[in-house]
Amino acid sequence: MSQAKTSPVTAVRAAPAGRRLHPLPVRIMHWINAAVMLIMITSGWGIYDDDPIIRGFVFGSFWRLGDWAAWSLNWHFAGMWFLAINGLIYLIYGIVSGRFRERLLPIRPAEVVQTVVETLHFKIAHEDLTVYNAVQKLLYIIVILAGISQVVTGVAIWKPIQFSGLVSLLGGFQSARVLHFIGMAVIVGFVAVHVALALLVPKTLWAMLQGGPRVKPSTRVQRGVKS
Ligand code: HEM
Repeated sequence: MSQAKTSPVTAVRAAPAGRRLHPLPVRIMHWINAAVMLIMITSGWGIYDDDPIIRGFVFGSFWRLGDWAAWSLNWHFAGMWFLAINGLIYLIYGIVSGRFRERLLPIRPAEVVQTVVETLHFKIAHEDLTVYNAVQKLLYIIVILAGISQVVTGVAIWKPIQFSGLVSLLGGFQSARVLHFIGMAVIVGFVAVHVALALLVPKTLWAMLQGGPRVKPSTRVQRGVKS
């Protein structure tokens, strides 16, 4: 079979370089979010300890940011602006660039079950960094929704008079507080698994630091199917 001859220069021009798996804006926003989340969670625990929701359960001074509740509140109120603004830019970027659609969708229940079964058999395949498995996609979507929910419930308990409509929509002040606490628990659970997996598969951590391999713009990130 005859093949058209291509000069090396043409070949380079013809192959689109593609973006990094994690473009610079995503990496910057991810690490800002990680640092701010740490501040929000530990300062939140300081505020919680002043008036516990679960009787008899406090986090203790070792886990708290801020010597007493007023300091924890200062950290929490300073951090919330970074969390909300960084998160908003991440959401807009994810939607406008098509990243969410490409990397997080679609999720098929059968694939979620299959990945869970494989993981329980300690088959954590992660050869191809450019493919998020169904469980990863699901967990990322859950944590993004939990982050949005934290901002909404947080706004309600921060300014309950100004946002009284939102407070009643959430079932009252105490209910909004409990929802805020549950959101924190979901995020802490996610982070524990997420960090453990990143340490188990260090090349994913390296990719989140330096960008990872280049991905063709049209690559649909979907297990086993690339278009
Ligand atoms: C020190 C803490 C953290 C480490 C070491 C870490 C590490 C990583 C790594 C390695 C990836 C890429 C995963 C892959 O390509 O398979 C990633 C992605 C991601 N992480 Fe983290 N992470 C941390 C904290 C967080 C926190 C606190 C959140 C949110 C609450 C978070 C949310 C996400 C999300 C949503 C993605 C997917 C980003 C995208 O593709 O757009 N991470 N993280």
